[in-house]
Parts: sequence; structure tokens; C-alpha cells
Amino acid sequence: MAEKQPTTSTSEPPSVAALSLAETATEDPKKAAVEQEINPWDVNAATDENGNVLAFDYEAVSRKWNTKLIDDALLERFERVTGAKPHRWLRRGLFFSHRDLDLILNYYEQGRPFFLYTGRGPSSDSMHVGHTVPFEFTKWLQDVFDVPLVIMLTDDEKALFKENLTFEETMQCARDNAKDIIAIGFDLKKTFIYSDLKFIGYNGGHMMLNAWEFSKLVTFNQVRGAFGFDGSTNTGRIFFPMFQCVAAFATSYPEIWGDDPNSDFRNKKTAQIPCLIPCGIDQDPYFRLVRENSHRMKHPVPKPALIHSKFLTSLQGAGGKMSASIPNSAIFMSDTPKQIQKKINSHAFSGGQETVELHREKGGNPDIDVAYQYITYFEEDDEKIKKLRDGYKAGEILTGEMKKECIRLMQEYVKGFQERRAKVTDEILKSYMAPRKLEWKGNPNPKKPEKKEAEKK
Ligand code: TYM
Repeated sequence: MAEKQPTTSTSEPPSVAALSLAETATEDPKKAAVEQEINPWDVNAATDENGNVLAFDYEAVSRKWNTKLIDDALLERFERVTGAKPHRWLRRGLFFSHRDLDLILNYYEQGRPFFLYTGRGPSSDSMHVGHTVPFEFTKWLQDVFDVPLVIMLTDDEKALFKENLTFEETMQCARDNAKDIIAIGFDLKKTFIYSDLKFIGYNGGHMMLNAWEFSKLVTFNQVRGAFGFDGSTNTGRIFFPMFQCVAAFATSYPEIWGDDPNSDFRNKKTAQIPCLIPCGIDQDPYFRLVRENSHRMKHPVPKPALIHSKFLTSLQGAGGKMSASIPNSAIFMSDTPKQIQKKINSHAFSGGQETVELHREKGGNPDIDVAYQYITYFEEDDEKIKKLRDGYKAGEILTGEMKKECIRLMQEYVKGFQERRAKVTDEILKSYMAPRKLEWKGNPNPKKPEKKEAEKK
């Protein structure tokens, strides 16, 4: 008799979304296919006419939103200009799309200033592994470019969008999440982390003024088009995007550049400093709004550049993204080694065959195997990944073995994080969250701009 694989695709419970859709499909077999939906508050994969959840089609999002796919030529240029081998997430296409990354490379090449900007909506006290993806990547970019970084914690957004959370609670989550973010390893000299509720409107109110001026340029129709609001949306939600948008303006942070927050009000020269925003593709709608309007500010601001990531899939597999509100969809940065092992063994969707015998004969499908997907994020060695992939496809590596490797990697990643997190005191937190002048060096060997270009300025 064929031996059954310890954990296989058929033994997995389907995701909640898959279940409900499959059930609906049985009742109504002619149900229409549903397109994928990606926006900052809702990420849902497409379903086919039988109710099956499909994988995200990232190329389709890129086409729809008119972003550029990151190609080999851009990665080669990145390496040539920075001297750094592209991060494994770039090499493996997990950061897959961009807007104007090539222009940021020009800035770096010429030694002109720019900054990095990213953020987190603090709705839970611990982040999950998916949330750390843009932060790990941002830290790498900060090390490569040696530039200032601002990290926005949108405690205002989360209280406005989550009925069950108060402003006091999201402010506390912001403090806890800031400690998580510090544990990623950002350089204090170059990093400013802030809670919206504590920072905006204080320190001379530069960011607030930027938000007011920007709001005068953006109509309700534009915001509704970008975010799908309607007449019953609370007014806080409608105004909130202004903050996430103007966080991309250098003048929102006079302290960082050494401008005097009182006399040097929204310095014209500072306004010209662009930023690069690493984020999940779901956050792009905010920054389209900025790119359409930033040149219309009194002191025109260059369009922000972006670099977009795919979503680290939920444990249930294709079509889901890890979500803090579905505990078994995610590995949390506070999980114990045992919890990680249990979650992966009992919930990680498998691309293996139903029985060992069948698996040996037909091989598995790494492209839908969650353990393999996580390995591609956290294993540095390209060669090792190739061996796992080929071995799985050939049926030489079993689901249990793939999961074992994944558990080892994830336990190691989370353990390293927890050790660093334990050392982040309130005092350290305070130092990252103090508005202050940052110190950075940028490109140590900038190329002088061509004479013609220099004359233009
Ligand atoms: P939030 O807290 O929803 O998500 C924080 C960042 O994590 C990304 N992300 C993921 N990336 C990969 N895999 C996943 N499963 C996954 N889940 C979330 C998000 O795309 C995001 O980059 N409004 C924002 C906070 C914010 C912000 C920003 C984010 C303010 N300014 C600028 C990025 C850039 C929010 O609620 O993010």
C-alpha cells in the first residue's frame, strides 16, 4: 500500500476564503469569475468561475497601474552604480516593480541627496513575518545608499479604519511596532521613526502645513477614485491619505536636514530632495496621488520613486497574504519555535502529491508549495534553493523534508529578531523617535554631472 505523506495538499484545510468561495460555487456552479482586488486596505486574489482562488497576477497589477517591471538591465545598472550585488529579493523577483528607480540611481551616481521613506500601520502589538519584508529590504537599501530614512507609523490611520481600535490603543501599538522595527537593525544616526499622532502638527507643524496645502490640490473625486470611498466614509479616512502622501516631502522633516523648524519654514531647496519608497504593491495608490500633484506645491516637490514587493503568501497558500487578523495565516515575530513548527506543519499548504509513492513518481510543485516559497525569501544561497526546487520537482525531496528546512530557517530568523528585540529599551526607542539632524554620507565616489547638465542648474 502506498505510504501517505505526512503533510500533503489534500490533508491541508483550504483557506477560509477558498472554502467559502468553493461552497458558493457548489450552490451556484455558474458563478462569474472575480478579478483580483488590491488596495491599501483589502487584498483579495481573483477566483475562477468554479470559485477556485487563483495566485496573484503581479504583472497584471503592474500593467493596470502603469508601473515598470524590474528587469535584468536595471539590476545590472544597480550593481554598476552602487557596487552592491542586488539583494536576493531583487534577484528572485520578489521586489518586482518600480517607478523611477532609474532616476534615483542617477541621483546616487551624481552624489545628490535623496532619502528613503517607508511605514507601517500599527494595528497589532506584534508584526508578522510579511511585515518585516519591506523593512528588511529598506535596511539593506539604507546600508547600500547610506542615506536618511523616515519610518511613518500610521496610528491615526489604523484607529480610523478599524472600528474596534481606539486612538490610545493604536498609539500603544505604534510604540510596540517601533521596537520591532528597530530590532531589524536600522542605523540610529540615519533613521527617524515617528507616530503620526505624536509628530504631525508638532515641531513647527511643517508636515501639517504640507498636508493642508496638498489637500487643497486634491479633490474628493481623486481620493474616491484612488481608495473607493463613498458618502458614508468617515471624514478622518478621507483626509488621512494627505498625511501618508506628504510624508514623502523632505520639508515635512526640517530637523533631519538641519533646517531651523522655526525660521526656515518649508525650505525651498529642501523641497527638491526626492525620496524612494520601498513598500508592498498595495500601498501604491497613495503615491500615485503624490506623483500626480507634488509639482503643484508652492515649492515644487519631485515625484517620489517607488520599489514594490509582492506579498509573502499566507500559510494557506496562493491568493492569500499573511494577515495579522487571521492568526493561522501568519508567523508572528513573537511566535515561539514550537508555534512556528506547529503552524508550518499543520497549516502550510503543500505542493506535494497525496502519497509518498505518487510524490516519488510524479514529483511536487514548488510554485504552490508554501514552505518552498518561504525558503526563497529567507535562504541566501541561490544554489541551495535550486537543489531544493529541482529535488522537489523530481520527487527526491518530500513535503516533510521541505517543511523541515523551512521550519529551521524561520525559527532561526525569528530567534535572531527576538534576541535583538529584547535589547530595545524605552530609552533606545526614544532616541529613534526624537526629531533631529541625521548623519549620512551618500555616495563616497560621486560622478561629476556632465558639463552641459551642470550649466542647466
Ligand atoms: P501595513 O502595516 O499594512 O504594512 C506595512 C508594510 O508591509 C507590507 N506588507 C507586506 N509585504 C509583504 N508581504 C505581506 N504579506 C505584507 N503585508 C503587508 C505593506 O505593503 C507595507 O509596505 N498605510 C501603511 C503604512 C504606511 C506605509 C507608508 C507603508 C505609511 N506610509 C509608506 C509603506 C510605505 C500600512 O498600513 O502598512
